[in-house]
Amino acid sequence: MVQTAIEWSQETVARCVATVVGARRSVRAFSPDPLRRELVEQILEEAATAPSGANIQPWRVYVVSGTVKDELADILVAAFRAGSAPAPAHFPDPLPDVFRTRLTDFGARYYASLGIDRNDTPARMRQTEQNFSFFGAPVGLIISIDRRLKPHSWIDIGLFAQNLMIAAKARGIDTCPQVAFAPFHDQIASHLHMPPEEVTAFGMSMGCGDPEAKVNQTRMPRERVQDFARILGFPAPPAPR
Ligand SMILES: Cc1cc2nc3c(=O)[nH]c(=O)nc-3n(C[C@H](O)[C@H](O)[C@H](O)COP(=O)(O)O)c2cc1C
Repeated sequence: MVQTAIEWSQETVARCVATVVGARRSVRAFSPDPLRRELVEQILEEAATAPSGANIQPWRVYVVSGTVKDELADILVAAFRAGSAPAPAHFPDPLPDVFRTRLTDFGARYYASLGIDRNDTPARMRQTEQNFSFFGAPVGLIISIDRRLKPHSWIDIGLFAQNLMIAAKARGIDTCPQVAFAPFHDQIASHLHMPPEEVTAFGMSMGCGDPEAKVNQTRMPRERVQDFARILGFPAPPAPR
């Protein structure tokens, strides 16, 4: 049972969670309306209830808004234009076919929603650049981790991030997780005065999404449960009548 302050049935709790989890999307056009600091802190507090291996809680978060965010965005946009970060290697090369197919499908849907021809490299670069101004969001987050930790602990910051996005969405606040920041760790670390043991894992935009923006209306499909899960040891489901 989930204990709630008010008398909600288990079904109501399940529906609320499913509704919020299902409503989260990566949003890439925001209203500039600011978010209250207390609201952001509440979301972070809920995010920090995420599990972590041996409860080491490896997440570190830099929340930027106002001029701090704008200055960081200016630095990153300039660095992106100058090509001064190592080429991103978020995926292995070659990427196995099963993933390549999904990545290609993502690109087709994403650029179509923006009216960008997939062969129009300058237009795609301009769109990628939007990452670094946090897609116009009033709040940006940089999530870092101690570089001495092993990949195992990176799972923890992923769980933290998902908690954060769900806690935000439950309040009508949209987000976009962004690995695009990772190659710009040097510029970010310098601007935010990160200690040397920290490394930028990813960033995130946060604010109220613009519901009119076409890019926010795209839905990314998911594989079906029966295609990604093998469910073993249960009684066979009843034959359809
Ligand atoms: C770890 C991670 C990194 C991501 N990096 C970026 C990014 O740099 N820029 C971006 O626009 N979207 C980024 N995304 C968003 C994904 O493209 C998005 O989650 C995926 O297409 C599924 O769409 P949905 O989040 O709307 O369900 C990232 C998502 C994750 C989980």
